[in-house]
Amino acid sequence: MASPSPAPATLLAVCALLAAMALFQGARAQQLSPAYYDESCPHVYDTVRRVIQEARTADPRILANLVRLQFHDCFVNGCDGSLLLDDGPAISSEKNAAPNNNSARGFPVVDDIKAALESACPGVVSCADIVALAAEVSVELAGGPYWRVLLGRRDGTTANFDAADNLPSPTDALNVLRQKFADVGLDDTDFVALQGTTTYSITDPPSAPQIRYRSLYVSTRLERYK
Ligand SMILES: *[C@@H]1O[C@H](CO)[C@@H](O)[C@H](O)[C@H]1NC(C)=O
Repeated sequence: MASPSPAPATLLAVCALLAAMALFQGARAQQLSPAYYDESCPHVYDTVRRVIQEARTADPRILANLVRLQFHDCFVNGCDGSLLLDDGPAISSEKNAAPNNNSARGFPVVDDIKAALESACPGVVSCADIVALAAEVSVELAGGPYWRVLLGRRDGTTANFDAADNLPSPTDALNVLRQKFADVGLDDTDFVALQGTTTYSITDPPSAPQIRYRSLYVSTRLERYK
């Protein structure tokens, strides 16, 4: 079990605050960069890694879960952390869409990472970047390769339940699946790699060579998400 995390409403407020700050900075064109937090939060990577390593000792599947979270976040309106938003007056949470309901896991770990980063560098690291970093660190901890994840994403303030409901499904026909990937700018190689991530999630636990084989592809494809 992950350690107790702050109330989701608190984290949601922090994410919304970051999004608002992002709007104020909007005039300054930002490019994603692995060095985005080098000055504002230099230990971001180590912090994410430490929290995930702790979570992993209690729950080995968490690594696969965190990779899948990025997939399900990025596929819907881009990598904006929208999957993290809970139901609210203006929000129908993507968490409740069929592809996520009872299967998207790892939210308490994301909350723990957010809490640790808020303590180290308040109001700096976006939740969208936490999801992206968590996926990279998970691939690495699973025995896959290391890559410098691009950072500087902004948090979305709206969810898209319908798009989440329409995530690639095991029951979709092949041509439907390929089209869903093409719609978000991903090619057939991405398609095969990211479907492999799903297999990686449900094999419990996958063998080390299986993880290495799959994460090799996944790692090179995840960065295609912006
Ligand atoms: C999600 O799962 C819960 C528990 O199984 C169920 O009660 C609920 O109706 C589901 N939500 C949706 C939107 O299908």
